[in-house]
Amino acid sequence: MTELAFSAWVQDVQADVERALETFLPEAAAIPHKLNEAMRYTALGGGKRVRPLLAYASGDLFGADRRALARVASAVEMIHVYSLVHDDMPCMDDDDLRRGKPTVHVAYDEATALLVGDALQAQAFQVLAEADTLPPARLVGMLRLLAEAAGTKGMCGGQAIDLDSVGLSLTREELERMHQLKTGAMLRVSVILGAMAGRDLEPRELEALATYSKAIGLAFQVVDDVLDATADSATLGKTAGKDAADNKPTYVSILGLEPSRALAEQLRREAHEALAPFGEQAQRLRELADLIVQRKA
Ligand code: IPE
Ligand code: IPE
Ligand code: MG
Ligand code: MG
Ligand code: MG
Repeated sequence: MTELAFSAWVQDVQADVERALETFLPEAAAIPHKLNEAMRYTALGGGKRVRPLLAYASGDLFGADRRALARVASAVEMIHVYSLVHDDMPCMDDDDLRRGKPTVHVAYDEATALLVGDALQAQAFQVLAEADTLPPARLVGMLRLLAEAAGTKGMCGGQAIDLDSVGLSLTREELERMHQLKTGAMLRVSVILGAMAGRDLEPRELEALATYSKAIGLAFQVVDDVLDATADSATLGKTAGKDAADNKPTYVSILGLEPSRALAEQLRREAHEALAPFGEQAQRLRELADLIVQRKA
């Protein structure tokens, strides 16, 4: 498969996801206007859509139809966007730039940012729960996995550790656990839910996907830490240099820049190896591992 074919596929999925989010988000004209408009402001027209891309790639591998995938992708993206809106609030990272635009609490106000996050999370579960082409038992399992990835055993748990770790020098194990929770969990569940939108997974298939997604989940945040230290705000669409300024433990602060880059590269190889049982069919997931590690923003 050529590189061009991959970028065309990426654009196709991004367009599909944009359309799905347009449909599944509340209309701006509906009451309450400000909340609905702010949800659309933050969720539409931006972001790399990495979690949706992962869901589509694994969904394609397991024969999922695009209607179900659009719901899975919208659900994981809505949870992700909610996590960004809250992450940027003054009580967390206090950032004023996201996806090249003022953050929600800056463009609107703090109470709206809080509610946008809350409402996006609720909407995510509704959108997935209404995936009525999927067998109900499997769908309930998918909702449970999404809840786990978003909650205290996943993203929220990682964010709590992140906030409690300011100024601390974590061990490498502690740092890995924080990253696996705050970022890895939502990436992992995107891969698994995409596959489950296709069919029930056999234990060895689940294991291979879990190994792959654990590697790319960690790699994603390692690269995020590297980019925070090396890229500029215009390229990132968010404030660069924020981790050091806020005294956050990151892979760069604990391992250093070059070892962090080397780790990301090692994780990319591990991700590729994990996909071996799927052969050529897993090309998109391989390409996404490359994208995650080689991205510049
Ligand atoms: C940023 O995520 C926050 C992390 C989990 C590291 P992304 O880099 O996927 O942000 P968008 O969705 O492209 O804006
Ligand atoms: C946040 O990590 C991960 C989330 C769950 C949102 P960061 O705080 O490093 O994300 P950025 O760098 O602000 O996007
Ligand atoms: Mg943060
Ligand atoms: Mg942040
Ligand atoms: Mg960051």
